[in-house]
Amino acid sequence: MANGTFILYIAAPTFLLTLFTYHLFLKLVRRRPVSHNQARRRPNLPPGSMGWPIIGETLQLYSQDPTSFFSSKQKRHGEIFKTHILGCPCVMLASPEAARFVLVTQAHLFRPTYPKSKERLIGPAALFFHQGDYHLRLRKLVQRALSLDATRSLANDVSSLAASALEKWDGGHVINTFEELKKLSFEVGILAIFGHLEEHYRVELKRNYGIVEKGYNSFPTTVPGTPYKRALTARRELSEIMGGIIGERKEKKVLEKDVLGCLLNSKDYKGQVLTDDQVADNVIGALFAAQDTTASAMTWIVKYLHDNPKLLEAVKAEQKAIQEVNGRDGNDNAALNWSQTRNDMPFTHKVVLESLRIASIISFTFREAVADVEYKGYLIPKGWKVMPLFRNIHHNPEYFSEPHKFDPSRFEVVPKPNTFMPFGNGVHACPGNELAKLEMLIFIHHLVTKFRWEVVGSESGTQNCPFPVPMNGLPARFWKQVPSS
Ligand code: HEM
Repeated sequence: MANGTFILYIAAPTFLLTLFTYHLFLKLVRRRPVSHNQARRRPNLPPGSMGWPIIGETLQLYSQDPTSFFSSKQKRHGEIFKTHILGCPCVMLASPEAARFVLVTQAHLFRPTYPKSKERLIGPAALFFHQGDYHLRLRKLVQRALSLDATRSLANDVSSLAASALEKWDGGHVINTFEELKKLSFEVGILAIFGHLEEHYRVELKRNYGIVEKGYNSFPTTVPGTPYKRALTARRELSEIMGGIIGERKEKKVLEKDVLGCLLNSKDYKGQVLTDDQVADNVIGALFAAQDTTASAMTWIVKYLHDNPKLLEAVKAEQKAIQEVNGRDGNDNAALNWSQTRNDMPFTHKVVLESLRIASIISFTFREAVADVEYKGYLIPKGWKVMPLFRNIHHNPEYFSEPHKFDPSRFEVVPKPNTFMPFGNGVHACPGNELAKLEMLIFIHHLVTKFRWEVVGSESGTQNCPFPVPMNGLPARFWKQVPSS
């Protein structure tokens, strides 16, 4: 045997043995102790169907309305189920505990998620899209500017805006209630965000907003002439207008307490101020969040009051009593004050809450799992969308008896925890909720004390624009009532 062959003959098995031993050693060293969790089998996905390849169940979602789609799934699969819609695998959660898990206790495992096309229109630095320190910083600022205390100083102006909006409805001509209420909620949004803003800025903001809004739910393409492309151009215009407003504010050096003021005056722990783009994206985002939501809620209120004459009488009685007090003091009726909205409207307040429950303007929200998460023995895989279904919870007879009956008295008892979330829950819950409630109460006051109205046409039902709105925006006629002496 040649020497070389011997070496090969002896050395090869030795080499292989060494390699094997080394490999085994590495495996043993690298292997972490088997935890109790790891020893368990990987949990299963929730029940449910993923539909067709690629399109999933998107067609079913659009052929039914979202409410029927989600409630039929809940009936079949229970409170947690999977589906595949709009190109994404999703886990739907229809129980209060699950919504709390995603939005509150384990919120760090679920990040907000929006299509990039929508992020571009609102502005990527807006707080909706963020998690962690940046989000918390912005949230505190917006929350401070819209706090209960801050709304106190807005009440008189909101009252004047509501009164003058309603004046324009007088005369019995048919109006689109939702479209008219959007004008009011836009003006209230402007007031809370900018304080008193010059007319030319208001007009330009409104014009460009209208274009952005039309493109927001259209197909995202940059082909010239399409609604999305026009929306992108209008969004750039909005940034420019904001640049002008921000520049003027900085020159004035006044410490305003409105949303814009709070954003401009903030410094982080390193003394860093927000950039103009960050300020603009958040202002534009807040205005976006304020307009259609509140207008949709108020439109439903007009409808519910119209459809329930007894309810209307009870609300009217409560509001007329306030009107009489104000009249007796020689005040202008428009100058309803903040403490009256807090203390003298208990029944109207319950009507607002019940409207928010039944209408469930934000039917659900989206998050995305940032890691594999286990919930009640089910796996929510990393990257999947997670949707707490607010409407399903609000309409579940286990939490709200006879859920389809409009019954404000149910709010005499505080709802069970996490069963009533019209403004969401947890770190991303709505910072504008006090302002929205104030606006609704003030609007109702002026509506029922001064007007009678009738809904035009017999078409009932809901239209998703994308918020649920009464069909065709609730066409209606309004007449100012002559005050009885
Ligand atoms: C009836 C009216 C309104 C309803 C039903 C409503 C509902 C909601 C809901 C459910 C969320 C949470 C969404 C989520 O968790 O993904 C939210 C967030 C938000 N809302 Fe509202 N909202 C209303 C009015 C307003 C108003 C008037 C403003 C501002 C003036 C506003 C500003 C915001 C902002 C800035 C956020 C994002 C908060 C964050 O991400 O931290 N909303 N709203």
